[in-house]
Amino acid sequence: MSIDTPPITPQQYEVLHGGGAEAAEIASQRLSRRRFLRRSMLAVWGVSTAAAVAGALDMLYPSLGGDFGSAQTVGKKSEFVAALPEKFQAELAGVYHRPIARAYVIHMAAETKFNLEGNNLESQFASENVVKDKDGSYWIALYQKCVHLGCTVPFKDSCVSFKCPCHGSHYNVTGEFIDGPAPRSLDRFQISFSGDDVIINTGFLNQTVPRPDNTTLLIPVPSVVCSG
Ligand code: FES
Repeated sequence: MSIDTPPITPQQYEVLHGGGAEAAEIASQRLSRRRFLRRSMLAVWGVSTAAAVAGALDMLYPSLGGDFGSAQTVGKKSEFVAALPEKFQAELAGVYHRPIARAYVIHMAAETKFNLEGNNLESQFASENVVKDKDGSYWIALYQKCVHLGCTVPFKDSCVSFKCPCHGSHYNVTGEFIDGPAPRSLDRFQISFSGDDVIINTGFLNQTVPRPDNTTLLIPVPSVVCSG
């Protein structure tokens, strides 16, 4: 962008080249305008640079933001009634959406039957961020975003699983991949407790849970086809 001063009128040219007080006044006004334009440009550049730096810091250190990207208290334990995986119902039993954390809280009953046992089960819990509570129930915090192309994945009561409306990726209640174009299982945050508060750390995202096979799948694939 040019900051050249505007062209002078023929009358101003005459006065300037004639010298005197009027010429000095015109010259002074032109100098002031040039300074003003320079300062305006510097101010705009400064604001733009500050905004760019703030954006970069927010991406690099999301936990500094205080909202999404940090630890979120999403409710009391009593708000998340546990259920067997095959009995899950959105917001009523086992699966609860918490937009503040962009996550689903999964709460499986202590009586839940898993495909694995012993050390295999423990190590799969660790790799899938499944937390066993002192009452024997199990908790997970699943990121709501489909790992295919990022659509928000709803929970479907009709098939007791997550089904993406965009291209059909399908995940069970523990977020494990069932079918569709998604390259892996749903991502998950860390979940923990402070007294009765349930806390999701949205500054930590596990993006490494692969498509399961028979040696890693935690619960059976639902037999009901999703509708709608
Ligand atoms: S974004 Fe979910 S299947 Fe494509």
